Amino acid sequence: MKKQLLDNASDTSLDRVDGAVKVTGTATYSAEYLVPGLVHAVLVTSTIAKGSITAIESREAEAVPGVLAVISHLNAITVPGWPERKQPAERVPVGTALRVFYDPLIYFDGQPVAMVVAGTREQAVHAASLVRVTYQQETHQTHFEKNIGKAGVPLNVQRSKNSPFQDYQRGEEAKSENTEVRIEAEYTIPTQHHQPLEPHAIIAVWEADDKLTVYDKNQGVKSAQGQLAQAFKLPRENVQVISKYIGGAFGSGIRVWPHTMAAVMAAKQLKRPVKLVLGREQMFTSVGYRPYTVQKINIGATKDGRLIGIVHEGTGQTSMYEEHLERTVLASRTLYACPHVATRYHLLPLDVNTPTWMRGPGDATGMFALESAMDELAFALKMDPLEFRLKNYAESDPERNLPWSAKSLRECYELGAEKFRWNNRMQAPRSVTQNGLLMGYGMASSLYGFHRHPSKVRAVIQADGSVIVQSATMDIGPGTGTAMTRIAAKVLGVNAKKIRFELGHSALPDAPGQNGSATIPSVGSAVHVACEALKTRLVALAREMSERFKSGGQVVVRNGQVYGSVDDKDGVSYADILKCHHLNELEVTEESKSGAERDQYSMYSFGCHFVEVLVSPLTGEVRVTRVVTCADVGAIINCKTARSQSIGGVVGGIGMALMEHSEMDHRFGRYVTTDFAGYHIPVHADIPPIEVYYIDKPDVHVNPIGSKGLGEIAIVGVAAAIANAVFHATGKRVRELPITPDKLV
Ligand code: MOS
Repeated sequence: MKKQLLDNASDTSLDRVDGAVKVTGTATYSAEYLVPGLVHAVLVTSTIAKGSITAIESREAEAVPGVLAVISHLNAITVPGWPERKQPAERVPVGTALRVFYDPLIYFDGQPVAMVVAGTREQAVHAASLVRVTYQQETHQTHFEKNIGKAGVPLNVQRSKNSPFQDYQRGEEAKSENTEVRIEAEYTIPTQHHQPLEPHAIIAVWEADDKLTVYDKNQGVKSAQGQLAQAFKLPRENVQVISKYIGGAFGSGIRVWPHTMAAVMAAKQLKRPVKLVLGREQMFTSVGYRPYTVQKINIGATKDGRLIGIVHEGTGQTSMYEEHLERTVLASRTLYACPHVATRYHLLPLDVNTPTWMRGPGDATGMFALESAMDELAFALKMDPLEFRLKNYAESDPERNLPWSAKSLRECYELGAEKFRWNNRMQAPRSVTQNGLLMGYGMASSLYGFHRHPSKVRAVIQADGSVIVQSATMDIGPGTGTAMTRIAAKVLGVNAKKIRFELGHSALPDAPGQNGSATIPSVGSAVHVACEALKTRLVALAREMSERFKSGGQVVVRNGQVYGSVDDKDGVSYADILKCHHLNELEVTEESKSGAERDQYSMYSFGCHFVEVLVSPLTGEVRVTRVVTCADVGAIINCKTARSQSIGGVVGGIGMALMEHSEMDHRFGRYVTTDFAGYHIPVHADIPPIEVYYIDKPDVHVNPIGSKGLGEIAIVGVAAAIANAVFHATGKRVRELPITPDKLV
């Protein structure tokens, strides 16, 4: 059941259920709610990276017509969930989220120090430019390489024996240093920013002293509800978080950030609804980023290409006040059959804002190093890179000593190689040219952990036979509503057009936020079980109506009707079942979660990418000219939206490999690439045809729908595949992303 999804006429995928409202501009995003009495806030941010505020001169700003307040630590309300302010202010212990307008201390350049609220955004922007902040500056450290000696084991890991980030060892570390063929290399990933098209935005409305509604761009309405309820010491149900449409997030919306708190505080203080939209430049210091990370890999094999040892060390950047940990080195324990493996993970705190999860966090970073090193080792072994990977294929999880719940990576390799025509690859680098350009082929593997969280779904069938399915899940772009509609339609035998899926509101049944590629595995399973339960109720009601439906397992549902058997010509419609029983509607709520299978199987999504590049020998410009990407994520729910996710992942990977780099001027500890002129992301002209394939075989052990996460595995490994193709084209190994022309000429 291998599916090529390009222009596939037989594909019965649903179009996006919210496509029309999005393209016609009628979908309401967080900043677009029309709330009576709305006022506008603009942040003033710190221009030093470390120190403290000595004075804030706001009289000129306050005199601007329309200005309602200039809020700072000098006059901000007390947030009930925060500890009392210390006099004099003290730097917080590691692990404390930044408290906005709390005290005069500065932890990073770009930190909010004041906020102007005015009747119009223009008034607020102008007044914000008039706020004068003076500082007592302290020496800051923002340079990763210069400070790497200060990196260490995260406190979080020191305190938690069972942390997955503890040093890991199997076999003997010394064994990898005494192999017949060995590579030792260092790989660097610079800071990269999510930068979704829609900037983060919030409208905060206090409906009463103890009732808060926020329209906030985030990836989890339930977790935002919990965090806001905790901060303001409110019962959860008194906080409503609405985030129905999201113009991209990529991890930047997983937590509640200081700007969100600032808007909620201002709305409380002024007793007015407050809207705050971050400026593009503020997006570089307000909502996290992929942390600067340096990795060392020492990898060795026998002469015939059997892996003996891998030592993988990673050091990531974090802030002075929080530790952001990610899976950087973990894949090296799992991806290949290798007897001697050691991993170590360190953090380097700097005077910067806290990083966060971004597009395959940790794994995308780690896989760049591991899959580059695998390519380097294959070259040293004079082996085909794909053959080398197949030779070290892990038939079971070498880390946990457990069988895979399912793994079709071999099929991915075979299908991808065939479609890409990998066999045409010349072994020697720099051996193929096309119109004066150097051509190279590269490939890399991909894996991503399986995440499934408890999820509740309500399914309601109405008198006319239409169905509403609800869950407080999110859609940051992959088309959650579309996939869920597909699942419900299949279970209930109802036309998708008669199903409405509702999400993005904290009053809906409890569901995880959208992250870790967990939505389909978690919420999709809950949709499945809720619709199964609803179907069971409907069939039971049908049985009360007629003998025809009493034939045990024979009963089927299709076209919104119950039939006595597959061949039955006359069914009874759901609408008639409800009518007959004098019901206006019928509702079920079900929860779905993992069970004992989590301890019996090791669960991952797998994949691989094949990439062709052309490199100009004169200018060093790299063009990706062809990509074949293949994934094994269990059952595919909706091919069309799945394919879009895979394409998005490859596009993100091309950005990561060739362009994305947040450059800092360390004299000031300040980013200088704070717009899309300086921070490059791929545009249409940078993207070649991308062929997407899925193995599409249900993983029967993971959940009732047999489906694993797809969103993030789509990017994991792409940067390595491109770097490997660049090496094949040019003979130059670039170990520091992005691969810009200067590194190739
Ligand atoms: Mo993703 S980085 O878990 O939004």
